Parts: sequence; C-alpha cells; structure tokens
Amino acid sequence: MFPDPQSRSAQLFERARRVQPGANTRHMITFAPYIVYADRGEGCRLTDVDGNVYIDWINNFSTQIHGYAFAPILEAVRAQIERTICCILPDESEIELSEMIVERMPGVDQVRFTNSGTEAMMVAIKAARALTGRSKVAKAEGGYHGQYDLMEASFLPTPANWGPADRPAAPPLGVGTPRSLTDQVVVYPFNDWPTTEALLEESAADLAAVVIDPYPARLGFSPADRAYLDALKAFCRRRGVVLIFDEVFCNRAGYHGAQGRAGVTPDLTVMGKIIGGGFPIGAVGGTREAMAVFDNLAGPLRMSHSGTFTANPVSMAAGIAALKHLTPEVFQRLERQGDRLRSGLTAQFRREGLVMRANGLASMTSLQFFAEPARDYREFYTRSGPDYLQRMQSLHRSFLSEGVLMATRGMMIGSAAMTDADIEETLDRCGRALAAFAGQTAA
Ligand SMILES: Cc1ncc(COP(=O)(O)O)c(C=O)c1O
Repeated sequence: MFPDPQSRSAQLFERARRVQPGANTRHMITFAPYIVYADRGEGCRLTDVDGNVYIDWINNFSTQIHGYAFAPILEAVRAQIERTICCILPDESEIELSEMIVERMPGVDQVRFTNSGTEAMMVAIKAARALTGRSKVAKAEGGYHGQYDLMEASFLPTPANWGPADRPAAPPLGVGTPRSLTDQVVVYPFNDWPTTEALLEESAADLAAVVIDPYPARLGFSPADRAYLDALKAFCRRRGVVLIFDEVFCNRAGYHGAQGRAGVTPDLTVMGKIIGGGFPIGAVGGTREAMAVFDNLAGPLRMSHSGTFTANPVSMAAGIAALKHLTPEVFQRLERQGDRLRSGLTAQFRREGLVMRANGLASMTSLQFFAEPARDYREFYTRSGPDYLQRMQSLHRSFLSEGVLMATRGMMIGSAAMTDADIEETLDRCGRALAAFAGQTAA
C-alpha cells in the first residue's frame, strides 16, 4: 500500500514540489517519502487518490468529530450556501451558535468568532491586555497555541535552548522574531506549582494573561493537575491577571469542554476546530465581565475586533449542525471507544515487548515511547529519547501500511462516525502494524 513510487499520490507530490515549497502548505503533514493525497471521505474512512482506504484517526486534527459526509452538516451547509455565503450583515446563525456554546461551556457567558484558533488566541491576548493595561503573557513550556509568533516562543524547545528548569527560556520559533516580543513571554513549567508561582509572582505587575491548555496535545494529553489549575486561578484572581484556557483542541474532552471536565473555569476561553463542523472557525468566549472589553455599546471601545470572514454563516451553520449532534451520549460513546482503543493498544504493546504507552482521555490518544505518564514537557522530551522522530516516522509508516491514518507524532483522534466494530478493526490493524514495527525495532 504505502509507499508506492508509481502511485498517483507520489506523482502529485512531485507535481506539487514545483509550485509549493516542500510540496505542502501545512508542515505538520510530513509523511516520508511522499504525502498521500485525499480523494474522498465517508464516515470514519478516507480514500486516497489511488483507491487506498484508511480508517482516519487524525480527523483533520480534531475538526471532523463527525467524520466525513455527515448528512446533517451537508444539509445545513447546502441550505446556508443557497441563502447566502457571506455578506456584511450578521446572520441569525451566529447568535444560535453562540447560545449553544454558552449553554455548554461553564466559563463562557458571551462569545466572539474568528476564522482560526490562532486568530482567536491573538484576540484573547489583546483582550487581556486591554483589560489589564499590561503587556506580558505567561505560557507553559512546550505548549502549542497556534502560529502567533508571541505564543510560538518555547514551542518545541530542546535542551540546547530551553534554559534552566527553574527559569525556562522563551526561545523564538521563527528566525528573526524580535527579542522585544519574546521578552514579553514568561515561560512556566507545566504542573510544577512552586516554580510556576515564583516566576509568575516575579512578573505579576506586568502580566496581562496566563495561558494554559488543560490537556495539551503536544504533551501527549498529560492533564494539568486540578490543584495546579486551582492555584493558577487563585493567582490570577489575586494579581488581577486574565486566565485564558486554550481549548482549541481539548474542547472535545466532553460536552462541557475541557473546563467542564477539569472543574475549573477561566476568564477567557479560546476555541476552534469542532465548533465549526469541519469549516474554518475560532472563537473567544468568556465571563460577562471579561467579554465587556469588546462591548462598544457600553462606553468607549477598549478592544477593537473585526474581520472580513468572522462569523461567516457557512461555518456557523456547520457548527450548529455539528454541536446539535454532539450530545452528552455521543461524548460518552467517544470516551468509551477511546478507553477501548487505549486498553487494546496497551495489551498489544505488552504482547510485542514494546515499551510504549497509549496516553490520553476521551477521544484523544497519544502513542508514546515510554511507559509511565509524563508530567511536563521536559519529562516528555527526555523520555521520548534522541531517536524519537525516526521511531515515530517508522511507527507512522507501519500504521499507514495497515490502513490506519494517525498523526505523524503518534496522535490518534476519534470521531463519532466510528462504531464499536470500527474500533475493533482498528485494533486488528494496529496489532499487525505494531508487530511489523517491533520487528523493525528488533532488526
Ligand atoms: C491547542 C491549540 N491551540 C491553537 C491552535 C491553532 O488553531 P488553528 O490551527 O485553527 O489556527 C491549535 C491547532 O492545532 C491547537 O491545537
């Protein structure tokens, strides 16, 4: 199946190389030796241009929580496109989607939409600055919060640039990122409250926001401890700092989002992905008090926010249809199926003698090359080992050859389109893939 140099995907890859640097516009799709091109999707299966069918365990990094060709979303989008694709007047659908988000998310009284999670994070940070009159932002070491260069500081740091453990550095991701920008970032170690508190206290007078993803994908969904989140919230209250949860990814942790699951609510919540039903979206929600910063009817405008495509009605219509069918029962099923996947994989690792872990929660699973859960970025990085990327690439290829599409960093994201039989079929395929992988590892 994969890799096949004669395949249409391999040919398209070569064609793309001429007009796209790296033959992609998305660096996280880094299959080797070529990228597989999609033809069509149906339910939980994707067919590539060569007719190979994969059970899709990426689901476009979470957006496709209903899989592909989900009839209610298709119908809602068709109806909306016929009424209007986009115009200058607001559409009732943006109120309806806001109402649905408010009903679900315990920390959200009001909502504003953007076109991506990155943009929503940018808007949330500007809002925190406008609320506090301060400029600095704290983020967890290694955390991913989109492509905003400020928040890219300390994304994927290495021992060469991550600095001392009690004072993590804020290395920029992009060459030439102004120092004046990264000077505005305070990097704290995830789940280590004494060190986090000392670092946050030191900058408290300049700190606008503390950003945290309670179940970060880049940390293999290691959760933030409840006591840690409580302490962050208490610090923010005490020091007048805005607490921002990044739920762009982990919003799928349950019907009430990550915050409902964690039992802690922030001032502002950044969302995206599943709330758009597969169409481009982002959102900033928050308490009435925090969201008042955007209210241009209540006095002089403190924080300006617009955009040509904000709350575009097609994304709104798709999002409404998606959320309507994401009931508490559907989240329960996703959770049960995620647990089954993780326990099945764990048994297979044991059978193959692989020191690996299927970590995660709900419909989010991360395959890791160590057995005990990692609590922070440095632990995750160090335990993954120096040959992590090569091993992950070979694991990914073994899965792809068996028709299981997972993210190149070992992430498996489920969808409501999956039946229990699909989970068992996935496990059968993974069993064969892991046997092949274990064979290569031993060789
Ligand atoms: C936690 C987190 N924050 C922010 C983003 C950025 O969202 P987008 O890709 O929609 O810009 C992502 C995307 O994967 C994410 O996982």
